[in-house]
Amino acid sequence: MLLLTSGGSGKGTCAGTEPGGCAGKCGGLGACAMNTAHQLAESLGRAVDARDQRLQQHSELVAELSGLLARAHGLTPRQAELVHMAGHLHDIGKIGVPDAVLHKPGPLSPEEWTLVREHPRLGAEILCPVRVFRGPHSVCEMVHSHHERFDGKGYPRGLCGRDIPLGARIVSVADAFSAMTEDRPYRRGMCLDDAVREIEASAGSMFDPCVVKDFLRIRAMLPELMAGGSGMSCPLP
Ligand SMILES: [Fe+2]
Ligand SMILES: [Fe+2]
Repeated sequence: MLLLTSGGSGKGTCAGTEPGGCAGKCGGLGACAMNTAHQLAESLGRAVDARDQRLQQHSELVAELSGLLARAHGLTPRQAELVHMAGHLHDIGKIGVPDAVLHKPGPLSPEEWTLVREHPRLGAEILCPVRVFRGPHSVCEMVHSHHERFDGKGYPRGLCGRDIPLGARIVSVADAFSAMTEDRPYRRGMCLDDAVREIEASAGSMFDPCVVKDFLRIRAMLPELMAGGSGMSCPLP
């Protein structure tokens, strides 16, 4: 299965392309399996978004931005497409979180937080029957790790730095940017400049500094991306 670990995104180094990839073969999976998996990922992402009207096209924006960041980081088109798919699927585990908790307007109790913090693990479990999605550092692992923090204070496993799969470090930035800029019933979304500043300020704590560097390099593309004009819903070239 595709390996998206280590390489240039670790603490203190920004070497670029990740070694240990699929060597262009992606574990022997052909373009047809990848296309079908991509369509499935997009469908399931829409299902998650449809469950919560506040999310609108959240999964698609996360997918699109994750793919762009993966390409900016130097991953191959196929590796980037898997990161993009993980963007579609990152919150699939939320279908296992009760509505009363997911849609609760007020603060969550410690027990309710425990349920919410299960969604990355649950998401990986839901996806693992699909061969294209499973294996070490695969889409399953990216989904499992998308709430890990670079400083080790994330969940569910408290992974730190390069122990977090690169794809998950990428999806984490895309997810945060999307969540910050989207309107919610209880607040307006941040403007683009404020959200960019927030991401930049969290480099090294929440986010991989190298991924944040990639994010800043593609900053000029963000307005079009947020307007849905950057080929959303389409596979990466
Ligand atoms: Fe999540
Ligand atoms: Fe897509």
